Amino acid sequence: KIVPVILAGGTGTRLWPLSRQSLPKQFLSLVSDHTLYQDTLRRVAAPDLFHPPVVLTNADFRFFARRQAAELGIDATVVLEPVARDSGPAVLAAAAYVRERYGKDALVLALAADHAVKDPDAFVASVRTAAAVAASGQIVTFGIKPSAPSTAYGYIKLGDKLAEGGYQVARFVEKPDVETATRYVADGYLWNSGNFLFRAELLLSEGTAFVPKMVEAATQAVAGISEDIGFLTLGAEAFTAAPSQSIDFAIMERTKHAAVVEGDFGWSDIGAWNSVREVSPADADGNVTRGPVALMDSHNSYVYSDSTLVAGIGLENVAVVATDDAILVMPADRSQDVKALVTALRASH
Ligand code: GDD
Ligand code: MG
Repeated sequence: KIVPVILAGGTGTRLWPLSRQSLPKQFLSLVSDHTLYQDTLRRVAAPDLFHPPVVLTNADFRFFARRQAAELGIDATVVLEPVARDSGPAVLAAAAYVRERYGKDALVLALAADHAVKDPDAFVASVRTAAAVAASGQIVTFGIKPSAPSTAYGYIKLGDKLAEGGYQVARFVEKPDVETATRYVADGYLWNSGNFLFRAELLLSEGTAFVPKMVEAATQAVAGISEDIGFLTLGAEAFTAAPSQSIDFAIMERTKHAAVVEGDFGWSDIGAWNSVREVSPADADGNVTRGPVALMDSHNSYVYSDSTLVAGIGLENVAVVATDDAILVMPADRSQDVKALVTALRASH
């Protein structure tokens, strides 16, 4: 069986004003009746294939992580990071924790908590293939056919075909610039979906080769775990010493033992408002609305409101996000710029 590990410690700035530092996007219901985190838990709930989930998140989010799992009747082990160190130390700590609890051959499925998947059965089918490849000694990624030269993703060049399914990774490049990404799309590279399946021991030994300080910090932090009101907290001093880096830069760009299984499960990264809009059903005018919203003579617009009635006339390709204390209005194609806006707001308020 596979141990699902859910990485739920990111902050999700581009989905402001809904996603906040105190309540980031993975804990919000953006594209379904469940939160992104809950949908992630639901994808890995089949008891014949998966152990109960382990959730790695920042201490600030502990009550969301536990309550939203409990709402689904899922008994998650919530492991808390005392400080944010990006995904690298979190995944390595997860690997060390799983190794201690289930043994070094245990298979870990590390999942991002901010994705939408249209076809959960196809996702599980890809996981089964990936598990066979991971057991043969590979860190397995799930590759997605790119639809645009996005600079928000990692890119994977396929190498030799593997007997267990999938391909060797010939090359992994995290977030290239747009010229490079354009070339990669033309050359048939896949996007990295940001989910990984591996034997706990292999990730730790690859980590030791490339980022020894990070592995040292993560394993020490696991050795120093303390328990309080049902939460496990990583040893603070050890974890704080970990360098802050994503798993993609720390290990995936460097390892020779990576494989890719192509996934065709209707994947999207819910990174910005345009992706929320893309995965939500539109009405006959191409509008996507959520909450109390009334539109007249409007097209291809996205309007979200928490509680105030938002009414629009003649909106064309506009996005509006209204919360109790902040309202965002922008051309729908500017959603990547929200990050810069939030940075500017933080500096000036
Ligand atoms: N526990 C924990 N702690 N989780 C974290 C932390 C942390 O400090 N930082 C980020 N995460 C979680 C996020 O919540 C998310 O679920 C996942 O790790 C990935 O982090 P992101 O910050 O969203 O990464 P990204 O989207 O820029 O890039 C990754 O995903 C892309 C696909 O969506 C990379 O893996 C890319 O290669 C990939 O293409
Ligand atoms: Mg992401």
